[in-house]
Amino acid sequence: MAGGRRGRCTVVVGCQWGDEGKGKIVDVLAADVQVVARYQGGANAGHTVHVGDDEFVLHQIPSGILHDGKRCLLGNGVVLDVVQFFEEHDALVARGLRMGGRVGVSGRAHVLLPYHRALDRAREAAATAKIGTTGRGIGPAYEDKVGRRGLRVGDLADASGVERWLAGALTRAQDLLEALGQDVSQVERETREALALGARLHGLSTEVGSEILTALSSGKDVLLEGAQGTLLDLDQGTYPFVTSSNTTAAGAPVGVGIGPTAIDDVLGVLKAYTTRVGEGPLPTAFPAELDEQVREWGGEYGATTGRPRRCGWFDGVVARHAARVNGLTGLAITKLDVLDQLPEIQIAVGYRTQGGQTEFFPDAACGYDSIEPVYETLPGWMTSTAEARTLEDLPRNARGYLSRLQDVVGVPIRMVSVGTRRSEIIRV
Ligand code: GDP
Ligand code: IMO
Ligand code: MG
Repeated sequence: MAGGRRGRCTVVVGCQWGDEGKGKIVDVLAADVQVVARYQGGANAGHTVHVGDDEFVLHQIPSGILHDGKRCLLGNGVVLDVVQFFEEHDALVARGLRMGGRVGVSGRAHVLLPYHRALDRAREAAATAKIGTTGRGIGPAYEDKVGRRGLRVGDLADASGVERWLAGALTRAQDLLEALGQDVSQVERETREALALGARLHGLSTEVGSEILTALSSGKDVLLEGAQGTLLDLDQGTYPFVTSSNTTAAGAPVGVGIGPTAIDDVLGVLKAYTTRVGEGPLPTAFPAELDEQVREWGGEYGATTGRPRRCGWFDGVVARHAARVNGLTGLAITKLDVLDQLPEIQIAVGYRTQGGQTEFFPDAACGYDSIEPVYETLPGWMTSTAEARTLEDLPRNARGYLSRLQDVVGVPIRMVSVGTRRSEIIRV
């Protein structure tokens, strides 16, 4: 690029336990970028985006797909469920989206097969200490990747190589499933049906990292779309109640195949309160009545599994942890409107634990169950915020709440979302 502007590369990362509204934020930002890429996870994600009166729930295809002409990539860090991928792809085509030439997948991405899903579900059913997974096969697929026995998109070009690989993979999967008391009579058929999509998938393969770097050097902006959230990160989250990938911003360059110096901004998405689906600690959980009330106001049911999400107050300890481990440069606060009717709102600013008072998110050694949040109470605003398009449009107490969140997290707010629609957004 001779002297022209270099594009900006922004990671959009969830900063709680997932479902922060990453899909909506990526959709809004995608209007101004050329490429959107997923860097980890798989069909465990459920990113809901509203365009006019239409609702789309995206699981593997990046949320940029709803803007015509944007290139959408799945990086090497993704575990790609080939059956679900084409179901999702073809459903979008059926709804009128022009998909041709717009979706690319890394040849280094691992292929997730039906037996990974079966294993995930059988293990959860048998476990006494459950994780509450989405049942999408994520853990078993990443185990095969790390165990160096996985199948990658690039391998699909060699049919006889796949056949040789399959002999070992099927035996292993069947043995594991049988040990869990599962019927394995359909495993080979289902696996072969999935692999029959291999040539179609391989036809979409591309050098994801190179595409991103080329876009940036020709002045085009790029978004790297996180799935799940910081507290579900394999290393930085509430282990073992986490997913099996690095969801945090550092996972982004690894998961698309670029260097960390190519990243310009890290936008952390935080709900104005907290939710969690699946097992594991949620220190700021609401009492039962408020939990139900906020779940209804916020529509807090899992986009992938339909499970009710547990709800709680905004957790400043979690948010500061996310700011640190992601190197956040800005915040997008979502679902402010869900708090419109509350007379008082609490923010956790610290924790009391067995080991004393702390402002840092502890590891399991403190005993997650012993955490007692230290709250500050702020006045609510008892007015609708859905129509606000600038900070000045917001009621004074809503501005006060946002200002306190920003101080507690120590990162500037760049966007505030006040509804599901594209237009329901405040840019700061
Ligand atoms: P993601 O997984 O992070 O993309 O989040 P989900 O899509 O799973 O969950 C967020 C839900 O909140 C979706 O149903 C969105 O349509 C909705 N949503 C996003 N932003 C807002 C907002 O500002 N206000 C309201 N009321 N809903 C929102
Ligand atoms: P998005 O991208 C919320 C949770 C599961 C479970 C744990 C492990 O929509 O924010 P897994 O199936 O990954 O092995 O499950 O992680 N989980 C999510 N929770 N949003 C998600 O994705 C999630 N993906 C996984 O509920 O607790
Ligand atoms: Mg979700």
